[in-house]
Amino acid sequence: MIDSYNDRWALITGASSGIGAEFAAQLAGRGMHLILAARRKDRMAELATELNTRHGTRCHIVAIDLADPDASRRLFEETRRLNVDVELLVNNAGIGLIGQIESTSPEDVRRLLNLNLVTLADLTYRVLPGMLKRRHGAIINMSSQAAFQPVAFMATYAASKSFILHFSEALWAEVRGRGVTVTALCPGVTRTDFFDKAGAPGWLEKHTSITPTKVVRTALKAMEKRRQYVVPGWNNYLLTILVRFMTRRTAVNESKRYFRPKRSLPEDDAAKKTTDRHQDSE
Ligand SMILES: NC(=O)c1ccc[n+]([C@@H]2O[C@H](COP(=O)([O-])OP(=O)(O)OC[C@H]3O[C@@H](n4cnc5c(N)ncnc54)[C@H](OP(=O)(O)O)[C@@H]3O)[C@@H](O)[C@H]2O)c1
Repeated sequence: MIDSYNDRWALITGASSGIGAEFAAQLAGRGMHLILAARRKDRMAELATELNTRHGTRCHIVAIDLADPDASRRLFEETRRLNVDVELLVNNAGIGLIGQIESTSPEDVRRLLNLNLVTLADLTYRVLPGMLKRRHGAIINMSSQAAFQPVAFMATYAASKSFILHFSEALWAEVRGRGVTVTALCPGVTRTDFFDKAGAPGWLEKHTSITPTKVVRTALKAMEKRRQYVVPGWNNYLLTILVRFMTRRTAVNESKRYFRPKRSLPEDDAAKKTTDRHQDSE
């Protein structure tokens, strides 16, 4: 648990843009020092300068590809070299993958799993023992609203986020009463570059979304209350409840509406098509 942010250290993965950069801004505003990890060094350097000017924040930047199988070990070693006790770990780095099976590369699937799952779980198990020893600390793991049901045409991503939700909830129960808390953060559509990068450019503009500011504010409040998971926004929260009352078949069939490619379905033609254009509904 974190009773005070001031002069403590947070490690944020995926801190170069979107929700991760917003975590950096809000935590710096509360007096934390930061270790920022992602691949784009220039973006993190810019952010670090801004946060230092505005809040006096000390920032260490680690430019690292967290999809690399050995990355979490190297990142954790870096925190030791800096002699920093990580009081708050924000496991935020993640990528999406949207599209038909034929246009999805197995290499991209492997990278997604390495980044979204392996690195997150490995880093969690490296950081937790120190927190438990100090009886102090918190972890926020980035899951998604997509964790609550399978999502067609986004199968690997949604399943990776289900893993993170279950993993985090189990750890939440394990560490309860030992001064440490773990919270799974499950946002719905959020205004970042995520969908453009994931293979559905322009998708965000056509859907209701929330801001990274709101997502992070809600996440920190939930962490302070030691909640096991949180879904920012009432509408999104209600949708995660609603899905429990559907059959599994209905839930997964409903999900096809969101990311089904626009053309190519006559299904017999699917193998010939490689274009990945998306529409709102069937
Ligand atoms: N936006 C949404 O609607 C939404 C909804 C639910 C959950 N989420 C989750 O929120 C998290 C942050 O995404 P975002 O929406 O803020 O999108 P974003 O702006 O694209 O941020 C993704 C972050 O992850 C980092 N990253 C990606 N690949 C990496 C790699 N191989 N190694 C190290 N860092 C890597 C990126 O940094 P570099 O490119 O510099 O490496 C970037 O800082 C993700 O886990 C995502 O699944 C997003």
